[in-house]
Amino acid sequence: GGASALAPDLAGRRVVISAGGTREPLDPVRYLGNRSSGMQGWALARVAAARGAEVVLVAANVDLAAPFGVRVVPVGTAEELREAMHAESRDADVVVMSAAVADFRPASVAGAKMKKDSAGEPDSVPLVRNADVLAELVTKRRPGQLVVGFAAETGDADADVLTHARAKLARKGCDLLVVNDVSAGQVFGKADNTVVVLAADGPAAEIGPGPKDLIAAGIWTTIAARTAPA
Ligand code: CTP
Ligand code: CA
Repeated sequence: GGASALAPDLAGRRVVISAGGTREPLDPVRYLGNRSSGMQGWALARVAAARGAEVVLVAANVDLAAPFGVRVVPVGTAEELREAMHAESRDADVVVMSAAVADFRPASVAGAKMKKDSAGEPDSVPLVRNADVLAELVTKRRPGQLVVGFAAETGDADADVLTHARAKLARKGCDLLVVNDVSAGQVFGKADNTVVVLAADGPAAEIGPGPKDLIAAGIWTTIAARTAPA
């Protein structure tokens, strides 16, 4: 039966949530980034704190005030987010990777602003792969720790959204994967959302449509049912 949004069912639970989107610098004034606003991660943190959890929010480039009672650790790049998540997750009961982490970064960062010389075409930008933080956290998971991933997917010629998501859940090895269908600009910067929560060991649950706080409440109820009381 359905805990209310303010039931202290996460009391004593230590949770670490990543939110926002990483920025990978090209030069002192430019970066490769993404459209994540951090709103869903903020809602997750706010709701978890309201339900009694001790919450750390590792925030990549989010322009929002810290939710009440939440410790915010600001980061910029994927590598900074990686270090913060490893450090903060050590004693956590639940780790939630809701941040959009850049898959690649520029192979080198120019020390001075890049100039466009003459009228020629620009050089291409060599990229290198970033570490997969979620997969690393799964490998380092301590006994009883629940690791939750997020996936923003679109259907394509190969497969539909849920087929891609089930493959990702298996590939990442996390306990839960929260899936957003981002076809046709349905999520980014919007207040309302619908998600499907896939479990490695059980059925899928659909949450929403509704405001991000309601989605967050549903996600925490799913998580709370799977973590031992503190
Ligand atoms: N993630 C991560 N580190 C990365 C990339 C992604 O921790 N370098 C995490 C995200 O925070 C999210 C999950 O992995 O929780 C899924 O991210 P997504 O970009 O959907 O997965 P990828 O494995 O990068 O697959 P894709 O090729 O679809 O981008
Ligand atoms: Ca990715």
